[in-house]
Amino acid sequence: MSGNGWAISAHGLTKHYDKLVAVDHVDMSVANGSVFGLLGPNGAGKTTIIKVLTGLSDITEGSASVAGFDVTKDPMHVKQRVGWVAAEVILDDDLSGWENLWLQAKLQRLGDWKERADRLLDYFELSDRRKDRVGTYSTGMRKKMEIALALLHQPEIIFMDEPTIGLDPNVRRMLWDLITGVNKQFGVTVFLTTHYMEEADALCGRVAIIDHGKFVAVGTPSELKSRVKEDFIEIETSEPVTVDKLQAIPGVSNVRSQGNTWILRVSSAEVVLPEIFRALQTDGIRRINVEKPSLETVFIDITGKRLDQSGGDVQDYRKFYMNLRRARR
Ligand SMILES: Nc1ncnc2c1ncn2[C@@H]1O[C@H](COP(=O)(O)OP(=O)(O)O)[C@@H](O)[C@H]1O
Ligand SMILES: [Mg+2]
Repeated sequence: MSGNGWAISAHGLTKHYDKLVAVDHVDMSVANGSVFGLLGPNGAGKTTIIKVLTGLSDITEGSASVAGFDVTKDPMHVKQRVGWVAAEVILDDDLSGWENLWLQAKLQRLGDWKERADRLLDYFELSDRRKDRVGTYSTGMRKKMEIALALLHQPEIIFMDEPTIGLDPNVRRMLWDLITGVNKQFGVTVFLTTHYMEEADALCGRVAIIDHGKFVAVGTPSELKSRVKEDFIEIETSEPVTVDKLQAIPGVSNVRSQGNTWILRVSSAEVVLPEIFRALQTDGIRRINVEKPSLETVFIDITGKRLDQSGGDVQDYRKFYMNLRRARR
């Protein structure tokens, strides 16, 4: 374990892809043994941060040390001490669970891996399926297998890139328990990225909110939530409405627009809702949504947009075609 108490520290960490600034002067310290979450929309720079911290991608400017080693000067030492659970599935479906572990051990040139592999299979309750093809596993079992692979070489830090993306709620909950378990039982520092604020809230001791490559807020989930005491009301109307009209509604302290949607910051949603209905009677309220203080409202407050609707178009577009290509194979 690294001596100074930090599993990860970064100063002015910056990554450019040609002219695009994907990560913009990020400072961070992640304590040994903690669960740290990077919360942000698609395209915010989350995966890029993992790539530069794990030595997979060069740093453009700034510095970072991971598990006590400088990422730029000592990438091999860093790689030996970190595990990675990618957003994409990395299992070989044609191999059994045990063979996947064997392959991972080969790739990493691990000598003493069998006993540990046994223990991991036990821990993840996969022992009785070890000889079955991974292709026959359930989604939950596959996720467990991916985490087992990432833990095989006893990393100090495990990076999980959107670990629960696309999972149904039951599997997501199970995975939350597993992530907490891995952190507690194995003493592994967990660095995870997510665009689900409930996930950051449920799992992370500390959270950094990232938008356009910048950390816009860092703190414990409760510290972050206490920053915003007001509620947000999101409205879509069938007739165009002016900012002035919305601002004039009693109890509305701030008005922002995102596409066709208006986001109003209000003292108390319960008090202001009737006022909104009264004021907008003739404009036809098509949709209305109340957001109580949460990491989502912190994000709205700082960036003026919702986490689940912001950015991402290009990214989703690309992902869509990548999946299409995969499906055709
Ligand atoms: N290899 C790459 N080449 C060029 N641009 C990239 C590359 N990888 C990511 N980007 C861009 O960098 C930005 C951050 O991407 P990424 O780190 O994947 O975001 P996130 O993981 O938060 O969705 C996006 O604008 C993305 O399009
Ligand atoms: Mg990503």
